[in-house]
Amino acid sequence: MQTSLIDIRSQFDKDLSTTKTAAEVEALKIKFLGKKGLIQDLMKGLKEVDPAERPARGKEINDLKETITRQIDELFLSQSSSELKERLAREDIDTSLPGRRRFLGKKHLISQVVDEMLQILGKMGFSVQVGPDIDSEFYNFEALNMGPDHPARDMQDTFYIADQVLLRTHTSNVQVRVMESQRPPIRVVSPGKAFRNEDISARSHVFFHQLEAFYVDKNVTFGDLLATLEQFFKQLFHPDVQIRVRPSYFPFVEPGMEVDINCISCKGAGCSLCKQTGWLEVAGAGMVHPEVLRFGGVDPEEYTGFAWGMGIDRMVMLKYGITDIRMFTENDIRFLEQFA
Ligand code: PHE
Repeated sequence: MQTSLIDIRSQFDKDLSTTKTAAEVEALKIKFLGKKGLIQDLMKGLKEVDPAERPARGKEINDLKETITRQIDELFLSQSSSELKERLAREDIDTSLPGRRRFLGKKHLISQVVDEMLQILGKMGFSVQVGPDIDSEFYNFEALNMGPDHPARDMQDTFYIADQVLLRTHTSNVQVRVMESQRPPIRVVSPGKAFRNEDISARSHVFFHQLEAFYVDKNVTFGDLLATLEQFFKQLFHPDVQIRVRPSYFPFVEPGMEVDINCISCKGAGCSLCKQTGWLEVAGAGMVHPEVLRFGGVDPEEYTGFAWGMGIDRMVMLKYGITDIRMFTENDIRFLEQFA
């Protein structure tokens, strides 16, 4: 009896020294402390012990049980904490660090303002239709009443890709296309990119954005054009904005005009933004030329229309006080983030 208690003690010490994994700890626990374990065997043997020795013997067994329990618990704790440490080291986590902020992409400022413009015009009944960036001379020039000798077709201004194929120089290329695919009443707004071979500076770029508004129906008047323009700019900039028009020439409208709004910075008093004139030029516009209607298969005796086109980049610059058009395409995140 006495020996077996010592045997179990040394057996435990031996087992303990080779126990490594969590499963092994569990097995060790069952072997010594389980219901059919070695300690329990010792307890069962108690009834054969001389009654006078029983209390002392029982205490010895209990002491051994406590020692074994404590050692197993310690091993379990040290093992799980070392496992945790190992895992932390492996996963390279500094749990004391604050969370890392995720970068979320946002709409480009130009797109944001385009959305706003489309919303304003959408409420007036204009639906969106886009034309291709790469187009033929026909839709970009010919059908817009710009014959082969028109100066706007000069190679210096236009990027040609192949014979008679070019990067559109304006969004007006959508005009004859929409007339080909739908009958009046037509009320279309068309945002997109335009390309011109110009020197790149703070004020001009080879690649910019335009928005075309195009309306063809019976009895569309010059008054409709003025009212639509005024409403549009009032809603885009400020309810107090006023417009003025000056006669101008575009081959695809007659009469043609330039549209100005009173300077949104100085409200017309004169400042550096408006070069002391009190006015800002914002769009080209006019009544659709009968020739253009004819190219689109629309009878100019029956229908009239208006069109206007404007540079979006310039609008955005005015609206947000941006002084260099190149910022839009440089993709400097510090600039773009300011308009998220
Ligand atoms: N397409 C012209 C331009 O790019 C603008 C315009 C559009 C003028 C429609 C009149 C009518 O300058």
